[in-house]
Amino acid sequence: MNNLLMEVENEIAVVTINRPKSLNALNSETLAELNTCLAEIEGRTDIKVVILTGSGSKSFVAGADISEMVNATPAEGRAMGLLAREAFGRLENMPQVTIAAVNGFALGGGCEISMACDIRVAAENAKFAQPECGLGILPGFGGTQRLARLVGKGRAKEMIFTCDMIDAQDAYRIGLANHVVPQEELLDYCKAMAGRIMKNAPYAVSLAKQVINSGADMDLDNGLKLEANIFGLSFSTEDKKEGMTAFLEKRKEKHFIGK
Ligand code: CAA
Repeated sequence: MNNLLMEVENEIAVVTINRPKSLNALNSETLAELNTCLAEIEGRTDIKVVILTGSGSKSFVAGADISEMVNATPAEGRAMGLLAREAFGRLENMPQVTIAAVNGFALGGGCEISMACDIRVAAENAKFAQPECGLGILPGFGGTQRLARLVGKGRAKEMIFTCDMIDAQDAYRIGLANHVVPQEELLDYCKAMAGRIMKNAPYAVSLAKQVINSGADMDLDNGLKLEANIFGLSFSTEDKKEGMTAFLEKRKEKHFIGK
């Protein structure tokens, strides 16, 4: 991979977008590599949490690559959007939990990729924006849809129409960032959160993720029916036996096997 780094340790994969010269802007090659890398991770049971970040201390991802888009035709623009749709859709729906460690600029496609992750942790220097309308285009990697779902239509429209950059604290205030932490603590903070997640039954966490994602696009009644069905399914697992028995035996140590 030319534009990505991946390290796996203690069942956590840290995937780093690594194009520091362009502040980790996403070109088509990077999107394709990300898609391949996530497809590989999806099939690995030894990875429970994925942390996505950008290289350096200035930028998470400064957006789609403007130098690639400047001469692109409508068909090429659409192809780029579809490539991002596939990679970001994979990120959003993969069985592992995904955390965006936002270590600086999260602009355009950068804000959009962070929103395809389950959880966003922002460094104090993080800045979020959807600057596309200032470039004569509109958000094309999910911003019009995921931002509105995450922070509400009113705030999403304001960010997209004004192109205003908001800082980490404002992102936290509107629910775009789950936490704001000092830059030097960012990765450790995300890894510690991953550790707390991994103490719980991995299959149950994965099912909960699927139900939250699928339910978000349903009416409440159908979402609750889906929840009841998958709740029932979780009773068939070894981990349910283990989790409940450990509680009744007043045993802190639990041995989940992911089945
Ligand atoms: N695409 C391509 N190159 C980019 C880039 C991008 N999105 N963002 C930054 N770069 C490049 C710059 O061109 C510059 O390259 P050179 O050194 O070769 O000149 C290098 O990264 C460093 O950037 P700056 O000199 O501009 O750094 P700065 O500190 O002055 O400014 C910044 C930082 C505010 C992030 C500024 O670079 C910027 O505004 N970048 C563009 C942000 C943007 O508009 N993103 C949205 C893209 S459109 C999109 O994402 C569509 C979509 O929905 C998917």
